[in-house]
Amino acid sequence: MANVKFFSGEQIPLEMHKVRIIQKLFLPEIDQRLQAITEAGNNTFLLKNRDVFLDMLTDSGVNAMSDRQQAAMLLADDSYAGSETYFRLENKVKEIFGMNYFLPTHQGRACENIISQVLVKPGTIVPMNYHFTTTKAHIVLNGGVVEEIFMDEGIEVDSTHPFKGNMDLDKLNKLIDDNGPEKIAFVRMEAGTNLIGGQPFSLENLTEVSQICRSSNIPMVLDASLLSDNLYFMKIRDEQCKDMSIHEITLKMAELCDIVYFSARKLSFARGGGIAIHDESMYKKFQELIPLYEGFLTYGGMSVREMEAMTVGLDETMDMDMINQGPQFIAYMVDELVKKGIPVVTPAGGLGCHLDAMRFVSHIPQNEYPAGALASALYLISGIRGMERGTMSEQRNPDGSEPLSAMELLRLAMPRRVYTLSQVKYALDRIQWLYENRALIGGLRFYEEPKVLRFFFGKLEPVSDWQERLVEKFKADFGDSL
Ligand code: F0G
Repeated sequence: MANVKFFSGEQIPLEMHKVRIIQKLFLPEIDQRLQAITEAGNNTFLLKNRDVFLDMLTDSGVNAMSDRQQAAMLLADDSYAGSETYFRLENKVKEIFGMNYFLPTHQGRACENIISQVLVKPGTIVPMNYHFTTTKAHIVLNGGVVEEIFMDEGIEVDSTHPFKGNMDLDKLNKLIDDNGPEKIAFVRMEAGTNLIGGQPFSLENLTEVSQICRSSNIPMVLDASLLSDNLYFMKIRDEQCKDMSIHEITLKMAELCDIVYFSARKLSFARGGGIAIHDESMYKKFQELIPLYEGFLTYGGMSVREMEAMTVGLDETMDMDMINQGPQFIAYMVDELVKKGIPVVTPAGGLGCHLDAMRFVSHIPQNEYPAGALASALYLISGIRGMERGTMSEQRNPDGSEPLSAMELLRLAMPRRVYTLSQVKYALDRIQWLYENRALIGGLRFYEEPKVLRFFFGKLEPVSDWQERLVEKFKADFGDSL
């Protein structure tokens, strides 16, 4: 988005693209929404998309493609082995990251499977700025332990720190000293740190982490799934990046790492994934696993159309006008919420806007899932689907006790280039109404609780008749059922 000033003084993000294909949306009435969320066991993952007005569950695989991406998809060269499409993608990845080797995978977690199988040995440690669910699962599956060494500010909900995704260097040094470098499988830096609210790290921090890794001979891995947001924030917040182009920043980041992997469901506005590597011997170790888990080396589980869309999407990621829409819409949403006194993670990050359920519904105890209850209530009164990121997403301990999450967030993801400002304003309006009526929101309890990944499939019920009372108040205030 260009930095266009409005005569009125208003600060509004201005899109540098126009919409040429649309999808009709449907807003069910509140009684239908009550039925839908009840049938979904108050779990937004179990809602059917047909019952959802604004789908803010995730930014994964739901970003809008450009005309150039759509056009490229028609030119795809379909072949099991050696397709031209693949070579276009491989060359683009090498160009963008300045790395020598590339391996295709079907999505981000597939990269994590392969990297963990090769690098993680039982008893080894993987330090990271923060974990992502699938990353941790693969590391643990291979016998490793995840150590989160974020800065203290990283998990402060209300902050002005521009780089909450930075790694704490003292803690990293101590971990290496205490355990010895040979115990560290690799160090992982996650761009646009997902679970702490889409928060970036600085180029300086990445440089310092890289120096520590290189001096101890520890492989350094970058999860670049949310790279576009991190690049945007580096460009506008990082003194060191002010005079660098987006591509120059990307090349510098990749130079500091041994491996860069990504989910193309986020990076490149497409679907798929891949691993870029500098070193040939490292590449060879990973290469063997691609045909086993993904597919032949020239498609890795992806369709040729997806690969064409990725190639163009990676190019577009180097264009500030293409990557700033998400973070600028999120900043708009966060600023408006802050003005209204509604608790939200600050500063605004990438990926989405994160409501702080711990403060929003402070009367709901954590074992009644405040963020889950807020997700259910917001869907009920607006048709907006968000994602719980709190205690519901934790796994019970083997003794049956429940770990309480450090944060209780309702994530409202902003799929890139998908929603308009009036839709964001609708979301703000309904969130404000809900905040004013927050005392009516009650807790949830599981009536079907799977042992693993309970947040995906688990079903919950309200602890009282709070949903009926919320519906009643909504109808009284709005005078209709929409
Ligand atoms: N790394 C990060 C930082 C992610 O956010 C994700 C996915 C993955 C890896 C895994 O990639 O889904 O292609 O296998 N995040 C999605 C989300 C699921 O909704 O935030 P994947």
